[in-house]
Amino acid sequence: MIDFIAYIFGCNKIIFMPSKVIARENWSKIGFLMATIGSAVGLGNIWRFPYIVGSHGGGAFLIPYTISIIIFGIPLMMLELDAGRKFKGSVVTTLKQINRRFWLLGILAPIVSLSILSYYLVISGWTLGYFIFSVTGYMEFSQFTNSLLPLLYFAITLAITAFIVSKGIKKGIEKASMILMPILFVVLIGLAAYALQMPGASDGLAFYLTPDFSYLFDPNIWLMSISQAFFSLSVGYGILITYGSHLSKETRIGRSVLGVAGADALIAFIGGLIIFPIVFSFGINPSAGTELSFIALPTVFGSMPFGMLIGLLFFFLLFIAALTSSISMLELGAANFIDELKWSRKKSVAFLSSIIFVVGIPSALSFYGGGISFMGKPFIDFMDIFFGTLLMLSAALLCIAVIWFYRPKVFDVKNKLLEKIKASSIMIFLLKYIIPIALFILFVVELLSGGGGH
Ligand code: ALA
Repeated sequence: MIDFIAYIFGCNKIIFMPSKVIARENWSKIGFLMATIGSAVGLGNIWRFPYIVGSHGGGAFLIPYTISIIIFGIPLMMLELDAGRKFKGSVVTTLKQINRRFWLLGILAPIVSLSILSYYLVISGWTLGYFIFSVTGYMEFSQFTNSLLPLLYFAITLAITAFIVSKGIKKGIEKASMILMPILFVVLIGLAAYALQMPGASDGLAFYLTPDFSYLFDPNIWLMSISQAFFSLSVGYGILITYGSHLSKETRIGRSVLGVAGADALIAFIGGLIIFPIVFSFGINPSAGTELSFIALPTVFGSMPFGMLIGLLFFFLLFIAALTSSISMLELGAANFIDELKWSRKKSVAFLSSIIFVVGIPSALSFYGGGISFMGKPFIDFMDIFFGTLLMLSAALLCIAVIWFYRPKVFDVKNKLLEKIKASSIMIFLLKYIIPIALFILFVVELLSGGGGH
């Protein structure tokens, strides 16, 4: 604890001490892919993406979204993984090795991500609660959030996340991802197959996918697609620096990144193939994520054939998706304590989890009794808006610090086509200028509009 306080409050000796490089566990190739896809695939894919597509031009939205993944997401993923593998350390360790003055930015990135994690886990807890309700009977959402149950499920979800992260890279995160991700994929495909044969499936698909190209002239659509791409791919947090630090030299970053981005986009797309046929078959309003998942869908599950099983699988899917993303955010934080303060993994995870629990309490109790609000918003919304916006700034600074000061000359694209079109130099150009500018614009727009949050 004392070393942590000394670190934060500026014992120069500790701050500027070159980080000792310690032996690190390495992912297996498939384990790395599963863990990174697990980090990317989260609540953002299954409830946010379908809604955004459906209400912002349908199929036309897929155009800016795909462009955003290629231009903004993939280069930043490459950069983070490349820097992590090169410096073999957490975000703080990596940034300190790039330039010792960057330690403060190194601390900002995990603070932002862990704050996001504190309420992301609350929502993950809701999905766990609804998973259990699918067997015991659904509780009304307002009644649920006005009870202490969200706090209980938040604590359980945090404990599960902490348990997995405390087991380490190979025995914890990799093992869990290797089990959970295939299950997620099977459940996803099963639910989509079921949903697509429902009576309203064609209307749902028409709403989801009919392109309205007039939306492409709306700059907001472009900004929304960029922020969705960052959020969904888990880039800009520093997660991929952390995950990259356990990458072996043999792993081809270019190929892996294409695989992860492709899987993330595909899973998000399939999420829509589940949601919209159900929504249209039952004539419910395809409105925003929270309401849809926790109010409208439970009603539907209560009255459809095999509804209990479908509801169980749906909330299980949401829970697994959220859990594997939460794991990556906690690992991002814990790695700094392990690498910088040489704390044991268990101590680092226990310390951070206690803080996250305390910080997450007001989010979990945002609607309990009279509710907990801050600046006129339920606390959980305030956290989402504040840290969702701050993330854009910290991601821009992270990108600038790494690309301008580490200056990788080429990326390991190792693919004939990508080498031919000089993908590596194009990506470096994008990272130096276009991506930080886009992130700053998003930061300012979200700041001025009172924050989009996630
Ligand atoms: N990438 C994660 C999600 O989509 C955070 O939810």
